[in-house]
Amino acid sequence: MTILENLFDIISTAKLDAKFFLENEYKFINIKFGEDISANRLYLSDNLNCIVDLMKNGYKGKIDLIYLDPPFFTNLNFKNTIKIKYDDEEIYIKRKDFTDKYDGGLAEYIYNIALRLVLIKELMSDKGSIYIHVDSRVNHYIRFILDEVFGERNFVNEIIWAYKSGGASKRRFARKHDNIYFYSKTNNYIFNQMNEKSYNRGLKPYKFKNIMEYQDELGWYTIVKSRDVWMIDMVGRTSSERVKYSTQKPLELLKKIILASSNENSLIADFYLGSGSTAVAADILKRRWIGCDQNPISIITLDKRLNNGLFQLYIEEKYLKEPNRFIIELKKINKQLDIFIKDYLDPIKELAESPSLFVEQIYICKKYFYEFKILSKIDKSTIKNNKFEINISDSFNSQLYAVIVDVMGNVDYHKLI
Ligand SMILES: C[S@@+](CC[C@H](N)C(=O)[O-])C[C@H]1O[C@@H](n2cnc3c(N)ncnc32)[C@H](O)[C@@H]1O
Repeated sequence: MTILENLFDIISTAKLDAKFFLENEYKFINIKFGEDISANRLYLSDNLNCIVDLMKNGYKGKIDLIYLDPPFFTNLNFKNTIKIKYDDEEIYIKRKDFTDKYDGGLAEYIYNIALRLVLIKELMSDKGSIYIHVDSRVNHYIRFILDEVFGERNFVNEIIWAYKSGGASKRRFARKHDNIYFYSKTNNYIFNQMNEKSYNRGLKPYKFKNIMEYQDELGWYTIVKSRDVWMIDMVGRTSSERVKYSTQKPLELLKKIILASSNENSLIADFYLGSGSTAVAADILKRRWIGCDQNPISIITLDKRLNNGLFQLYIEEKYLKEPNRFIIELKKINKQLDIFIKDYLDPIKELAESPSLFVEQIYICKKYFYEFKILSKIDKSTIKNNKFEINISDSFNSQLYAVIVDVMGNVDYHKLI
């Protein structure tokens, strides 16, 4: 049977299975930043578990805008090379960002997306919209799933995001666009119409009656309603926005979607968060957000991009492991705790003397029953000679933990007091 012959069955199975997933209980360790209980939530988990958790915690019907940028069925592992500097030398390590490979092939990919979309629809408000970002590899299947889950009548737009990038095959026209499908939940969806420049033919003035014309350095133009073809630069190697995360999407793209399909204070979600562009754009535009990714490096990347933006962190329990990478030694001197990183258990030979070079980020947390609250972050640049110190004068009666994420994205936690 071909995938097309199977398509309807795969989606029907996903619809039935969605009910069973709702019965699952997932354990999240809730890590809060500071005292401020902001509505922003960041999940380190499989998005299926996050979606179920949100359903059970009052988020049904609450989200006005969902942007999803799932893997595109490329059959690739997405990697980044990270540089570790020591003395005067540099070492390069390959770090996996995410895998886009499926033992069950296209059928598994389609099932996974359909299952999530069925549940996500329940989280959307009646004014809500969903944008799902793919490319020519799977766009036709995604469109079919969306028709099945949201109904053809709720199709709003197919947005073509056109960009320039390096590389092209000699055997075809260069593939330089992605497809973004925009569906609403009901007919009552938020839509803030936008304008754009439309350059005149020949860049000369038309001089029509009652039509305002303007001129810039390129030539003459009029203002028209924004169309469904968007020319926005991708985040290139030299872009100032660029962070080290594969397939990072530009803030301009996310801002346009957010401005069109949400209002200030709307709640926005992205369950394939990656580098966190959606949350960063939402923060700039004063929207509340929920983000989820299964890769710890995605979470840290967003944390760094937000620059003290507030959120609560939910970590699926399976990620938090008792120390299995870093060995630490503690020394308490009055109100100060010295923390010495003694070893890293997966060393590259030359760096064995400098285990702290493998640290990506350290969170110092207070533990209350099953909750952790982040008190401070230790940036790796502040660790000197494998040592850092924390002040423990306010920590009486509480248990302090260090959650350490290594450069490869492994997470361990260590009891400090
Ligand atoms: C194409 S990238 C998203 C890029 C993002 N839009 C950006 O601007 O950086 C897809 C992301 O989805 C994450 N991902 C894939 N499957 C997931 C799942 N089942 N649950 C949570 N995250 C998932 C991957 O780890 C990866 O970071």
